[in-house]
Amino acid sequence: MSYKRYQEIMAKIADVNYASSVLSWDQETYMPEKGAETRAQQLSTLAGISHELSTANELGEVLEKLSNDASLDAKQKKNISESLKDYKDRKKYSTAFVQQMSKSISECFQSWQKAKKENNFSLYAPHLEKLVKLKREECELLGYENHPYNAMLNQYEPKAKTADIEILFKNVRHQLVDFVKKISEKPQNNEAFMHTHFPKDKQWDFGIDLLKQMNYDFNGGRQDISSHPFTTSFGVNDVRVTTRINENNLNEMIWSCIHEGGHGLYEQGLNADDYGLPTGEAISLGIHESQSRLWENNVGRSRAYWKANYKLAQKYFPENLKNVSEEDFYKAANIVKPSLIRTSADELTYHFHVMIRFEIEKALIEGSIEVKDLPSYWNKKYKEYLNIDVPNDSEGVLQDIHWSHGSFGYFPTYSLGSFYAAQFFAQAQKEIPNLEDLISKGEMLPLLNWLREKIHRFGKLYSAEELCIKVTGEKLNFDHFMNYAKTKYGNLYNLS
Ligand code: CO
Repeated sequence: MSYKRYQEIMAKIADVNYASSVLSWDQETYMPEKGAETRAQQLSTLAGISHELSTANELGEVLEKLSNDASLDAKQKKNISESLKDYKDRKKYSTAFVQQMSKSISECFQSWQKAKKENNFSLYAPHLEKLVKLKREECELLGYENHPYNAMLNQYEPKAKTADIEILFKNVRHQLVDFVKKISEKPQNNEAFMHTHFPKDKQWDFGIDLLKQMNYDFNGGRQDISSHPFTTSFGVNDVRVTTRINENNLNEMIWSCIHEGGHGLYEQGLNADDYGLPTGEAISLGIHESQSRLWENNVGRSRAYWKANYKLAQKYFPENLKNVSEEDFYKAANIVKPSLIRTSADELTYHFHVMIRFEIEKALIEGSIEVKDLPSYWNKKYKEYLNIDVPNDSEGVLQDIHWSHGSFGYFPTYSLGSFYAAQFFAQAQKEIPNLEDLISKGEMLPLLNWLREKIHRFGKLYSAEELCIKVTGEKLNFDHFMNYAKTKYGNLYNLS
């Protein structure tokens, strides 16, 4: 049994998984309403085939054999060890458990939709309770060190530790909460013009221009419209992004285009020769999000970026922006203001939203809080960290889809993404001469090449922590995010 056989099996599994991705992409973009039922069946069939292939005895035998093969090079060894770990994890699930979980998730999701619509948490609570119980069982089944939440977290962020995430959020609590308080005592910048009428087709064209400038490859990708923007890949040479357009708010299109564009560039930068193999896949959700946040925030919300692009914005929207200076526009792109809804939060207060969810889901998994107490706990935390009164559960504890999907351990990866982004970008500023000048001229290729060289091409060859040390010389360090925030917002809000 050879490494070649392993590659063949993995490529076949990838074929099935990417075919599922095509169907899911279509479901979110163009599928007519009546197609939903058949589509669900098709996706479920493909998921079954993928599971069979990836738990087949032959794969296990090939992996065991190759894991003792000293003739493999370092990259091949890494692929085998990663695949073997995944294989063993998948084998831990019995068919009965998988079916029970899938049933529980679908009931929970349906009850969440109804509960959110009717603002009635009690419709959702018993289903969530059942799901949390199953998730606790899943932690035991997968196994963990120190804290059961590690088992959940590691499904999205392999090798991350609950204790390290706790330290990060302790920093958020001790440094960022006070900093935002200082900002909120200052007069707010004007952003009313962002909410005038921006025609849809002009927004679309502007977004395409921004993606082209980032060097997103339209010969190996495309953009479409969906209600929740996302990025999906069918392989390195076909990476799709979506955006949304709100004619009364220019922000939505701009930030979702740049954000998803950043995800897309990571996928397009993976190694095509490693199709279906761990080294041909993104490291983790946190590292994926670091790429989208780096482009969205560190680049897209910078002064230099709007020096490059504001004239183009004015060309597309001459009426809306005729009395708005470049500086005004930059300020409006960086309003910091505590708010109720996570997905529309600014880049600083966003982390309070994540911190609250992390505290709650960790407590749910360890069993120190019960589902029935979620609304009051949630509301108390929003008051404490954001000074926000939550008006109702629909806009409070019911606002996110994640828990109803059984996605516990997902939320922290959003904050990890921003913190990694700040650290990577600080390093890029050191290593790329005149990076800011280049950005202000719209020359994004040197930055993209740096990301390709330092991050994208490796796939899972390194863990997130190893990569971070390799690129920046140290582990993830919250100081980089805080330095970025202090420099930028200190200027924007005249803090001394
Ligand atoms: Co993202």
